[in-house]
Amino acid sequence: MTMNHLIIYSHPNSKSFNCAIRETLKDALEQKGHEVRVRDLYAIGFDPVLSAKDFEVLEKGGVLDDVKVEQDHVRWADVVTFVFPVWWNSLPAIARGYIDRVFSVGFAYTEKMEGLLPEKKVLVICTLNAPKDVSEKTGAFKAMDFTIGQSLADFCGMAFLKQKYFNSVASVSDQERKDMLKEVEQLAGEID
Ligand SMILES: Cc1cc2nc3c(=O)[nH]c(=O)nc-3n(C[C@H](O)[C@H](O)[C@H](O)COP(=O)(O)O)c2cc1C
Repeated sequence: MTMNHLIIYSHPNSKSFNCAIRETLKDALEQKGHEVRVRDLYAIGFDPVLSAKDFEVLEKGGVLDDVKVEQDHVRWADVVTFVFPVWWNSLPAIARGYIDRVFSVGFAYTEKMEGLLPEKKVLVICTLNAPKDVSEKTGAFKAMDFTIGQSLADFCGMAFLKQKYFNSVASVSDQERKDMLKEVEQLAGEID
């Protein structure tokens, strides 16, 4: 079944490994016949700060224009995939703020905490410099699984597909990085 895939990409550098992940994922999905849209948050200059103005408009049942544009992309999507480098065991602020502003009350969940996006799926792909055993030992994986993919799924009623981590990305060999991109291709093939 072909699906609509929205990739929310958060990295300031177009030569980054994250950019290679994004392109690999996009190509693999398109080869399978899926529709793909990419929202490159730095490139579009997304404002990640949930402000008093947002709350003012939300209280009247609306959203600001830039949020509306992003919500229309989310509405279109069957699968929403976040691609980002882990910063401080979390999302980069621009991605965190995208969730704060775009997955808003009335759009993604109700005041009673009912999810409003039950037909959608969420996938998370992120990179770290820490080795895998360190991320396991410190509890970083467990914490991020819960606060990112699982929380989005729980709040919005989406299915949580996977949170895929690529560790030690700065120190591994080029071959290991190529193998990681192969894993991204495989992951794209597993989504249905
Ligand atoms: C502000 C900042 C915070 C970071 N925090 C973490 C961290 O908590 N854990 C970790 O393993 N790596 C951390 N890193 C390293 C990044 O995750 C790493 O540079 C990135 O995943 C590499 O991917 P890229 O080549 O696409 O930039 C941090 C980097 C920056 C700039």
